[in-house]
Amino acid sequence: MVFRQVLKFMKKILVLGSTGQIGTALKNNLTKWCDVTFLNRNDLDFSDIESFSAKLKDFKPDFIINSAAYTNVDQAEDFKENAFQVNSLAVEKLSKFANSIGSVLVHFSTDYVFDGKKNTPYSETEIPNPLSIYGKSKLEGEQFVEMNCSKFLILRTSGVISKNNDNFVSKIKKLSKTKKKLSVINDQITALNFSSYISEATSKILKQIEDNTENENRWGIYHMSGSEAGSWFDFAIYAQKINLLRDPSSSFSQTKILPVASREFNQKAKRPNYSFLTSDKLKNNFDISLPNWEKSISEVIG
Ligand SMILES: NC(=O)c1ccc[n+]([C@@H]2O[C@H](COP(=O)([O-])OP(=O)(O)OC[C@H]3O[C@@H](n4cnc5c(N)ncnc54)[C@H](OP(=O)(O)O)[C@@H]3O)[C@@H](O)[C@H]2O)c1
Repeated sequence: MVFRQVLKFMKKILVLGSTGQIGTALKNNLTKWCDVTFLNRNDLDFSDIESFSAKLKDFKPDFIINSAAYTNVDQAEDFKENAFQVNSLAVEKLSKFANSIGSVLVHFSTDYVFDGKKNTPYSETEIPNPLSIYGKSKLEGEQFVEMNCSKFLILRTSGVISKNNDNFVSKIKKLSKTKKKLSVINDQITALNFSSYISEATSKILKQIEDNTENENRWGIYHMSGSEAGSWFDFAIYAQKINLLRDPSSSFSQTKILPVASREFNQKAKRPNYSFLTSDKLKNNFDISLPNWEKSISEVIG
């Protein structure tokens, strides 16, 4: 009885993409203070937007967090239609739904909306110009959110890593089991961010706005990243250094990590040479900042 009364006053949050890195991390933070429902691909398939209305009609959350996305950057080049369906058309539908029921839409996006022609940190006022299908589809998704929602937050982040899911750190560790030498790109500058740091920051934002969404004036795009930039080679070397302390005899500790230029690496999708995001706006508007990529790697290797 008391529990039911408490539930009545808790904010309702709907999280989409519950099996992903950020979706999984959100479970730890959100379940502590709100009434949260997590949906996975089986519950709501972003490739099947015709089913959206029927599947969403019974939900009336205060917040919808969309952490679902087509995230395979290279594969998106060959499956363009699929990438646009999930990252753009489904987001169009979702943004209209969120607005129609008065929900706040919190939508994750990426540093790959930028072309990387700069070599100083990208702020939210900079004009995007994506180089890849993934980046283009994510940018289109952002534009639908901005166009359709009166209450929204677009949270752009970069290089998400976590303990369990597929990501840069898990990939290099896996590769080291079969390769004595690993070539890692040293001329693409970005930042890695631990999924739990992103989730914690997102939860803190929602807590700040939960009771005042009607009068809130902080809606918009935010960059959410640690405060230092690095290359994939820097990240790999540091990950190995931490791993060596914790597990010196493992294949990852033994493998040789070599720097390689993007032009020699032959990635299917073109990526920005520089896509480091400055998160000053997040700090100024919400007093939130994320730890740097070294801390993120230490958490994940741990
Ligand atoms: N990963 C990165 O390095 C990175 C960098 C910058 C920005 N971001 C952004 O951060 C957000 C979350 O990234 P993440 O790393 O948590 O991604 P992730 O681990 O790849 O998870 C993606 C999620 O989307 C779901 N999904 C994919 N296709 C779907 C479909 N057709 N219908 C329904 N669900 C579908 C996946 O479900 P299944 O488990 O069933 O596949 C999974 O739950 C995304 O917006 C991404 O663009 C990520």
